Amino acid sequence: MEKHTTVSGEEMERDFGSGTIQLARGDITKESTDAVVNAANESLLGGGGVDGAIHRAGGPAILEECRAIRARQGGCPPGEAVVTGGGRLPARFVIHTVGPVWRGGDQGEPAILASCYRNALRLAAEKGLRSVSFPSIATGAYGYPVGKAAAVALSTVATFLAEEKGAPPRVRFVLFDEETLRAYRESLASL
Ligand code: APR
Repeated sequence: MEKHTTVSGEEMERDFGSGTIQLARGDITKESTDAVVNAANESLLGGGGVDGAIHRAGGPAILEECRAIRARQGGCPPGEAVVTGGGRLPARFVIHTVGPVWRGGDQGEPAILASCYRNALRLAAEKGLRSVSFPSIATGAYGYPVGKAAAVALSTVATFLAEEKGAPPRVRFVLFDEETLRAYRESLASL
């Protein structure tokens, strides 16, 4: 597959067959991609970190839809994903997914983290979305080591873009701090 890497300022971009992965430093609530992905918890009732930021910026409509999902199916198990509207966010949709709590790495964490990215992209593909922005799932409160998470995240997304027709042609990782951006940049360059 054609691999094209450009590094301009904060952004880094690489083509994988039908799609492009972009890295950027910033606040995911400002993203105007078709969907942003939320690093939620199983309750879907909000929390801190990116979950808190998305609910604060997106407003109560997002939580109302999350409550309706809970009423229908209960919460969201780790590795699974659900979708709501974007409320007041620039993004049209929020895809909520629940990462694994890091417990040393031999409790199935890598497979659950890969499922977060795959299931979020499947939902985006089902909706025919053209662009999705991810945060660094599970590397905050859930304690997943950033370097290991970046390797799982990028390889899972690159494989999905290369293999799944209907995959969103533009996938962004919006990273909140320099250390995380660096870890993802190193991982992307080594894919
Ligand atoms: N935009 C982009 N990234 C952000 C933002 C933001 N506005 N705010 C935080 N982040 C980054 C964090 O710096 C970290 O790199 O998102 C990454 C994931 O961190 P968390 O938000 O703590 O998510 P996670 O580790 O998956 O833990 C999920 O935390 O907020 C609660 O309800 C959530 O219980 C769940 C748990």
